Amino acid sequence: MKRLLIALFAVLSSSVVAQNVITPPTTEEGFKVIELSKMDLSKTTCGWSTPKANKSIEGHPITIAGKTYASGVGTHATGRINVKLNGSAMRFKAQLGIDDEVVPNKGNVKYTIKGIGENGLSSVLAEGTIVSGGLTQNIDVDVNGYKYLIIDLDENGENSYDHVDVANAYFTWDDDEGAASPPYIVSNDEIGVALACATAVFSQPGVRFMHKIRASQPNALISVSNLPKGLKWNAERCLVDGSIKKEGVYTYYAIVENDGEVQKMPITLTVSKDLQQPVPFMGWLSWNVWEEAIDEKIMLETANAAKRYGLDKLGYQYLCLDDWWHCCKERPADGFPDWDHAKFPNGMRYLTDTLHALGFKAGIYSDAAAHTCAGAFASYGYEKVDAKAYADWGFDLLKYDYCGAPPAAEEAQRRYTAMGNALKESGRNILFYMCEWGPREPWKWGAETGATCWRCTYDSRDYWDWGSKANGGHIGVIQGVDVMKHLWAYSGVNRFNDADMMMVGLHGTGRSSSYDAANYPTGRAGMTQEEYQSQFSLWAMYASPLTLSFDIRNISDDDLRIISNKEMIAINQDRMGQAAELVSDTLVSGQQVEVYVKDLENGDMAVAVFNRGAEPIHYTFFPEQAYLKGNKPYRFHDVWGVSPDKMAGPEGYDMQVLPHQTRVFRVSRK
Ligand code: GAL
Repeated sequence: MKRLLIALFAVLSSSVVAQNVITPPTTEEGFKVIELSKMDLSKTTCGWSTPKANKSIEGHPITIAGKTYASGVGTHATGRINVKLNGSAMRFKAQLGIDDEVVPNKGNVKYTIKGIGENGLSSVLAEGTIVSGGLTQNIDVDVNGYKYLIIDLDENGENSYDHVDVANAYFTWDDDEGAASPPYIVSNDEIGVALACATAVFSQPGVRFMHKIRASQPNALISVSNLPKGLKWNAERCLVDGSIKKEGVYTYYAIVENDGEVQKMPITLTVSKDLQQPVPFMGWLSWNVWEEAIDEKIMLETANAAKRYGLDKLGYQYLCLDDWWHCCKERPADGFPDWDHAKFPNGMRYLTDTLHALGFKAGIYSDAAAHTCAGAFASYGYEKVDAKAYADWGFDLLKYDYCGAPPAAEEAQRRYTAMGNALKESGRNILFYMCEWGPREPWKWGAETGATCWRCTYDSRDYWDWGSKANGGHIGVIQGVDVMKHLWAYSGVNRFNDADMMMVGLHGTGRSSSYDAANYPTGRAGMTQEEYQSQFSLWAMYASPLTLSFDIRNISDDDLRIISNKEMIAINQDRMGQAAELVSDTLVSGQQVEVYVKDLENGDMAVAVFNRGAEPIHYTFFPEQAYLKGNKPYRFHDVWGVSPDKMAGPEGYDMQVLPHQTRVFRVSRK
């Protein structure tokens, strides 16, 4: 009997062949088995068609060298599968080959299987070549201790017939009595091994597109391959430039060479005329000044005032309800969301209809947990119901917060994706605005959830610099700048880094934006007009959504001058969607000075020189810093009208920059 049991165990614990079909074990060596084909394959990259679970790329049973496999992934080179191991995976096993659906000797793929450690360094665990009609490669590698496993499938010269099967592929996994999380597939954007820039990019047909490619290792060499027609590689500046006429999804590759290691990273470019956020959205949010006091009357007065001041024409289109429009702390018993009927007596549809009739769009707010930050019921587990309600109520934007949700990035991705999918199915085009404040680096994965912009900072307060006293609840303009200035390579059309609502106009009058003002470093909230203008300029340069947060029913001339600077807005709304690149961050006469340049669609450059210090400085800006070459002078047009327009060549443009001031110029050949 004992022998029989042992024999039975041996059969169960190794791959079994039933009716000539090979199936994976359910456990192995006392560990659980996690099949690759049961993971979410949508985050893999695949050179042709879409990867399939338990089927070849053409949808046949997985068959290599005459053997059929019940489990595995059918994919195509050039492709890549990245698995996050979570420290608890033990071994990875697979049979690798080219499916028998391809004629012999036609398909030819080079595979590399790598482990990436916690320190970001990679080790090759297995490599080789597979050809159609050839042998199956048996992969059995120790992955314990690695953070990620990468299965890299290179087309090896030519991608036709490269129908790769990663057959009978599984991880053995030590679930640590339920304490560990199982391995799962992550995107290239998240793994970001070789690249430190966006890898899922967007453009509109016929509109100039630019993609600056940056590597995580500063000395890496970057090149590209497979650029679609219409796009060119600018090797000097490491950027892709051009325009594509035809809508579609294109793939090109960034090739990153560092220390003898070459990585080929796929980039997906979606060209569509229906992008949700082709340029950063502009508008107003109720939170800073109204908090839970927001109601229909204020919303409509705000809309009428915005119209009166011409804010709609300037682009401030989205008027958004932030937290606490809700009826109650707990979701009503029928499971459907409801608003506060005393505050919104005519209902949400009336509100959005009226906003729409005035030419605005309407935004609403929720949270990826049971309750919002202010304590109302939120959307976790009710994504579909809520998305459908927002659509029926006529909303055009959802700000989706993260209070009360688990800290892990993968959980945030799941929760944002659930809402992103629900919005897509809601029957209405609702712009999805993520607000997890940056700790989980949403600029690396936000686009995959369906979001088109993501908050990168904690809540901005109406204050310049919190210094070391800054924390999640209190950050000033300077703390926002310190985050945003490093993220420009992750921004682009339809994927914008958001720096939070601007403080212009508040003058210490806000609620949450000036809460606890007695504890502010100077004991009060509020900034100088120069500081408000600097924030506006920098936010515009960063290609952040431009959102106002003060009571715009009455706008002073001084504030109106800032928020209605059409040239500054045009720089923000440029259709190439580039975020300003930080080209210099140094001390000038003892003051910290940041210099930014932003590529514009018509070839002009926006230049911003920001003096963070407390003393005025003189600064010479050289056109070369904005990649503008040659001896002919350029026209420096001062966007804030501080100085008259001036021509300057290689000798540079001299300027004075006051404390906390940002000088902005549009530099052109015209
Ligand atoms: C915060 C969010 C703010 C505001 C607030 C509402 O988490 O960052 O912008 O929406 O919640 O409670």
